[in-house]
Order: sequence, then C-alpha cells, then structure tokens
Amino acid sequence: MTKTFADKSISCNPSDNPLFSGVAAQLDLSLSRRNFFAGGGALLAGLTLAGSPMLVGAATKPTAPPQSKKPLALGFAGIPLGTDDTVTVPPGYKVQVLYAWGDPVGIAGNMPVFKSDASNTWHEQAAQAGMHHDGMRYFPLVNAGKRQRGLMAINHEYTDDGLLHVGGMSGWNADKQKKAMAAHGVSVIEVEQIDGKWNVVRPSKYARRVTADTPIALSGPAAGHALLKTADDPSGREVLGTFGNCANGWTPWGTYLTCEENWHGYFSDWSDNGDPKGFNAKRYGLKGEGAGYKWVDVDFRFDAQINPNEPNRFGWVVEIDPQEPDAKPVKRTALGRFKHEGACLSVAPSGQCVFYMGDDEKFEYIYKFVTAKPWNKNNRKANRDLLDEGTLYVARFDADGSGSWLELTHGKNGLTKENGFADHGELLIKVRLAADKLGATKMDRPEWTAVNPHNPGEVFCTLTNNNDRGKEGKPGVDAANPRANNLFGQIIRWVEAGNDPTATSFNWSLFALAGNPDAKDPNHRGNIKGDIFGSQDGLYYAETGILWLQTDVSTTTINAKEYAGMGNNQMLAANPQTGEVRRFLVGPRGCELTGITFSGDHKTLFVNIQHPGEPASERNDPAKPQAISTWPDGPTGGRPRSATLAITREDGGVIGV
Ligand code: FEO
Ligand code: CA
Ligand code: CA
Repeated sequence: MTKTFADKSISCNPSDNPLFSGVAAQLDLSLSRRNFFAGGGALLAGLTLAGSPMLVGAATKPTAPPQSKKPLALGFAGIPLGTDDTVTVPPGYKVQVLYAWGDPVGIAGNMPVFKSDASNTWHEQAAQAGMHHDGMRYFPLVNAGKRQRGLMAINHEYTDDGLLHVGGMSGWNADKQKKAMAAHGVSVIEVEQIDGKWNVVRPSKYARRVTADTPIALSGPAAGHALLKTADDPSGREVLGTFGNCANGWTPWGTYLTCEENWHGYFSDWSDNGDPKGFNAKRYGLKGEGAGYKWVDVDFRFDAQINPNEPNRFGWVVEIDPQEPDAKPVKRTALGRFKHEGACLSVAPSGQCVFYMGDDEKFEYIYKFVTAKPWNKNNRKANRDLLDEGTLYVARFDADGSGSWLELTHGKNGLTKENGFADHGELLIKVRLAADKLGATKMDRPEWTAVNPHNPGEVFCTLTNNNDRGKEGKPGVDAANPRANNLFGQIIRWVEAGNDPTATSFNWSLFALAGNPDAKDPNHRGNIKGDIFGSQDGLYYAETGILWLQTDVSTTTINAKEYAGMGNNQMLAANPQTGEVRRFLVGPRGCELTGITFSGDHKTLFVNIQHPGEPASERNDPAKPQAISTWPDGPTGGRPRSATLAITREDGGVIGV
C-alpha cells in the first residue's frame, strides 16, 4: 500500500529564517499539541497514522502503549540474510552512494578529490568526509521550492589507520596524527535531490568539518570547573576537538547533537600499572595503551598521567548549529559525562525538551535530561543556551514492570560533598559514580533510544549485548536484563507516567529478545516475530510508525558459533503495534549499519555504511586494504570506504509502507 505525504517544509519566507529551524514550529499540524513531537523533517500533516492523544494517567501497570489509530502495515518484501559484498534492499527500492570517506565536503576553493592510495594530506582530509560515518540528521531547508534540499550533519566516529595512511600506522608521526584527527568529528554538507538523484551541493556556504582539533566551548554547570582546567586551557572553558562521535540527536530549533562515546580509547593512562589517577581510570575505563591509537606518541595532551584533566573534557553531548558554519560548537555539560551513544528528543506538553541517552558499556545506565524551560518556537536564538539548565536523571527498572527516574542533582539523594561530589559540576563530570550511588539499573550496553513521534512518552532503547552478564564477580540477570552471557541483546520499551516525558515514573516491558527463536540455549533464544537479528544498535521511530533497527554484530561476536549463518550486518523494520520485524537491508562485508534519517517528505531514507571491510587485521592491514571488502568502489577502488546512502523507491513512494 502506498501512502503519500505532503511536503510542508518548503513554504516559509526566507527573509524570516533562511533555513529550517524546527519545521514543526512553522506548520499547522494535524497532530494535536498534546502529541506534538518536533522530530525535524516535515511533520507529515497528511499522515494517515496520526497518533491518538491517549492518556494513561498515573503509572498503572501493565501499560498498553498508545498507538496510531490505524494499523501499520509494512509495505515491502523482507529480504534474506546475506554475505555479499554489496548493499541489498527489497525489490522496488534503489540505493545511491551519496557521501563517502574522502569526498570533498564542499568548501569553496578547497575541494580536494579522494586519492584511493590514501595519499591525501591532512590538510586535504580536513576538507573531506571523515572516516566511519555514524549518527546523522537531515535538516530540510525551507523555501527549497519543489526541489528537496537540506543540510546533513554526519558523525565520523573513529578511524582505521591502516586504511587512512600510506603504510598504515607504521612510522607514526605528526602528519599521520593530524590526518587521523582530521578524519574524526562531524561533516555538515548541503544536499539536494534533482530528478530523483541526490547530490552534495559543492560549493556550499554551509559546508563544514568539525574535527578532533576544532575549538569547542564548554558550557553549563561544569564549565570552568577545576577538574576541566588544563595547562593549555586554564579557563576550563574551551576544548580542542571532539571524537568518538557515535550516535546523535537534534533539537526542535534545528541544531545537531553529536555524542562522544569511546573517547577513553584515545588516552593513555598507565595508572592501571599501580599509580591510580582517580575516577577516570577506575570508572571510565582508561587504560595504559588506550585502544591502539598512537595519539599520545606525538601529543602529551593524550597522556592522562601528565594531563589528568584532559579526559574530563570528553564524554559530552556537543551541540552544533548547521546553519551557522562559523559558530563554535558547544559541549553541554548539563547532560552529564559518560560514553554517550545518542540523545533522542521528546518534547513535553509543557514545551520542555527531554533527551534520552544511553551509556554504551556493559552494566551502564540509561539517562534522561529535562530542560528547565520550554523551548521558544518564535525566537530561535532564545534557545541558544536552553541545554545548559535542567535536570539529569538515571533509570531504575523494577521487577514489577514499573520504573523510576532517579534525580542526579547535587545536594539531593545523598549526592553531597561528604559523598565525593563537591558541587554539581563535579557530579556531572563523575556522573557514573553518582548513578552508582542511586542504585540505577545496570543494563546490557544501552545504545540508541527512540521516541514515538505520536506519543512523546513512549520510548524504546536498544540493549546490544553483554557477554559478561552473570559471570563470576559480575552482576547477574534481572528483569530488564534477563539473560546471562547475553550475546544477542534486547529492546526495552517504556511509557512515561501520563505520557509525559518529564515524569519521574514509568512502566516498562521488553519489546523483543533478539536471537534465533529456535536456539537451544535459552540465553541465546530470541522471541522475535519475523526476521532474526542480534546486537541491535541504531534505532529510529519514524513518523510512518515504523521502528527502524540497525545491527552492529562486532567482528569478534560475529565469529561466535551462536551467530553462525547470520551473515552481514543488517537493517530491519519493526512494527511496534504487532512486534513484527522484517529485514530491509543487508550491508556489505565487514560493515556495521549506522545512522538513520529521512528527507522531509519521507521518500528518501539516509543510512550509513560504517567500516566496510573490517578487519584485515588490527586497525586494518595496509598491505591488504581490500582483503574483506571492496565496497563501494569495487576492486579498482583501492580501499573500502564508509559512506552515506540515499535509499528511495522506484515509484517515488514513502519508505517502508
Ligand atoms: Fe558507537 Fe555504541 O556504538
Ligand atoms: Ca552505535
Ligand atoms: Ca555499536
């Protein structure tokens, strides 16, 4: 069945606001204000699945989450598991590679072409797409006429230095270091669709790279804190760079949130050899040799023994305004410091903005941040510092299906100076320790969160896996994390009291246990209705009502016998009403699927293929760059490249229905 949506993103007066700044603010929506969700993109006023303003009142249980009035039917034929070195989608869909590592970002006068022998300089890399695309967001441009045009902000999570440099990591020097840093961070590109084909607009006044060396402000309660001051920045208010940019978020005023996840791996801290430097090594996992990067070899900034506060300046949510290419990005400390996966927006009936956030590590927590004030839909600039003031919570999932948001505010719940938190800034920097004290639930690696666009109080979170669950000396199973040696993970769903995302209580249930329903071992047996998957990571609840899943079965996990026959990583569509799951895409060899965003009319799905060809060896073997994959350029392309895909229907219809 084909549904059509009205594209309402193109009717604004450009003199008022030349760009998208929360399309929802500009539309007369058919959705009720109560169900209003500023998810960016056109809010699909013609949507036939508009949600019902159902209330569940106080936290009664079990809760039947409100759903769209009309049943959702997945409108494509599911595809089989696969091992081909290509992107496979259902019949009737087509795939275009839009923006691959090394493609010029589109800065006027500085558009170096990709060299497939990896000989681009670090200067050139700083004007090209970074490596290993992850979370991203499409921001429609208003007044774009009948053409689809918008800005895309795209994370570049990390590098495979064996592919990035001639000779790989051997002979590591300052130039290799600078190129690696330039390949991290974020791209902002302008894109447009002409005659059905998407293009990167080059040059574009919006084209921009944020890298691991870009000046970024620290703001909010921890800015200027003694624990954030370094010799190079005695103010504690400006950091060079962002890295480990994993999943993402967005705001209703049209800014992009990039989330720092595995930042700890870039630092070396030999404290585990007997000289502890405090909470970083103990609780945030810093190690002597980091994660195999060699940044510390040429820059003492990454030696946590010499600069013990430098790691405190990473692990934040960073706000970037794609409309303002010269504006300094800002690390928003009020949202807490951990290994941020993403920050998914919900807008409360009060207009306050709520961000759901996973901390992706075994036995870590799920958080949410509630802004103190509602956002201002009439004055974009008035929202500039909205993320600096609010309340941070961490989740506890109780065995009876209820749950609580535990407040992480200095002076409350025993979070005092006597207990190790001198002030709120210190609490935010050490927020994992504060969450420990409150007895939050230790989860099986929280990845992405997703909010129902038709009910701001219904939220899903992917818990990707945790093979340490139940091991000796480790936490055992609990109701929300019910399987020991959990190789496949689960998806948890909760509904906030009163469907209000600012509530402090909720009801929860498990949406799915991943894994094959026929597996003999109950720890690996799933209850999926439909196509099997495991190690789910990316998650996005689209306005169509489809809950999109992406898998990240890691290279080590995918070789486990339990994953035998599961093939390459994949993307699936779930029906939240019925639980049905149908496979939509299988990626090339050695890749992970990351990043999900839609064009304003929902007729283009953008996804990222990350790290195709992983691994030839540790950080990839420079002598055999194509040992696993030649995607997307083929055997003559020199090396595999992460890339953004634009997926459309051959009949021009809405994706997935
Ligand atoms: Fe970067 Fe948790 O995935
Ligand atoms: Ca991820
Ligand atoms: Ca992952």
